[in-house]
Amino acid sequence: MKLLVIGSGGREHALVWKLAQSRRVARLWCAPGNTGIAEERLATNGAAVECVAVGAEDLPKLLDFARRERPDLTVVGPDAPLAAGIVDLFLAEGLAIWGPNRQAAQFEGSKAFSQDFMERHGIPTAKSGTFHEPAAAKKFAASLGGRCAVKADGLALGKGVLLTNTVAEAERAIDEIMVGKAFGTAGQCVVIQELLVGMEISLHALCDGRRALLFPTAQDHKRALDGDAGLNTGGMGTYSPAPFLSDAELAAVGRQILDPWLRGCAAEGIDFRGILYPGVMLTAEGPKVLEFNARFGDPETQVYLPRLEGDLIELLAASAAGTLDRVQLRWSRCASVCVVMASGGYPGSYAKGKVIHGLAEAAQLPDVKVFHAGTARVGGETVTNGGRVLGVTAWADTLAQARDKAYAAVARISFDGAQFRRDIAAKALR
Ligand code: AMP
Ligand code: GLY
Repeated sequence: MKLLVIGSGGREHALVWKLAQSRRVARLWCAPGNTGIAEERLATNGAAVECVAVGAEDLPKLLDFARRERPDLTVVGPDAPLAAGIVDLFLAEGLAIWGPNRQAAQFEGSKAFSQDFMERHGIPTAKSGTFHEPAAAKKFAASLGGRCAVKADGLALGKGVLLTNTVAEAERAIDEIMVGKAFGTAGQCVVIQELLVGMEISLHALCDGRRALLFPTAQDHKRALDGDAGLNTGGMGTYSPAPFLSDAELAAVGRQILDPWLRGCAAEGIDFRGILYPGVMLTAEGPKVLEFNARFGDPETQVYLPRLEGDLIELLAASAAGTLDRVQLRWSRCASVCVVMASGGYPGSYAKGKVIHGLAEAAQLPDVKVFHAGTARVGGETVTNGGRVLGVTAWADTLAQARDKAYAAVARISFDGAQFRRDIAAKALR
């Protein structure tokens, strides 16, 4: 098979790494890919993965490329091309592609759509309201005593959420998003949720339009600093499984969310083929969905794929074809941990071009994989080129061992200003 993967982050490096292990893949392109992706080799024939200089959001050029090369399947990593309708575009040309179509991608593209859908179909979620003008939004925020999550409706690079504890803070957040347009047009409409308290976990389910196969749990660490202090980021590290739910409890939570979701999709004619990734808060009153994403999590993918047994391409092809009844998800019993090494200053401004040392030494450690996110090759050296730079991942029989191995690998890698959390997976090991 010939495959095209779209995207350039750590998630896409993990996808390419796993897909390259497939006995069925003979050629693999990644648009635009990254430095680490370009170093991957295919298990079948030793061929290099080929990075193509086309951006993940340049739909016309991606379509041109696919028309020319005819990949047997295109795998979409990030949310933006999905929300822009890349799946509809490719399918109209008879090109097989994995990911939700534009209508289905609304679960991530519009928080108002998702929230209304959850309420229509009885999916457990936070008490919430959707508003198009600030005065009504403020009135609702006041009714919650100012303890709110104020969310820009549209895509905002994972940053469009402000958490508030007082009425004054909530009013400032509403003004920032709706009047100051902190997240641009994404904030023309806001969703305000009650502030939920509990343990937050990530769920993933592989869907084929009619069925949803639930993954094990994972937990992300969204704040920049140890102890969940500092600003929200794209994610500073993950581990899987998260021990806050037994297998039976996970299955029950999955049913509480996915059964009404599937019924709702069927009733509304939404054909969701791809990954549904609900962010879930485990509250004293039970699990509640904070948001839906319509793609693999980053860095959740980096801890899921080392645990996934079997051929990823078979699973994605079945998801795209509507035949998930013919496959099974199989997971190794091992645990995995990913520690993100970021540029100093991230998620604020940061310098680029810092030389990264120790990548070869880290690569020699057993059961360790260093996924690249923001790196570049300059004059024979690998340098930093983004906020999140590397996802240093390890797996082992126990979570404690996986954590120790990941940090042992982190200790071999250095660059000027490197910033990473020292407490990834600590909540689970307490
Ligand atoms: P979202 O992009 O909607 O997942 O929000 C970003 C982060 O804000 C989440 O990962 C949570 O940590 C936090 N968050 C979102 N909604 C709520 C809520 N209703 N209550 C408490 N925390 C929330
Ligand atoms: N792990 C956060 C995200 O992918 O949105």
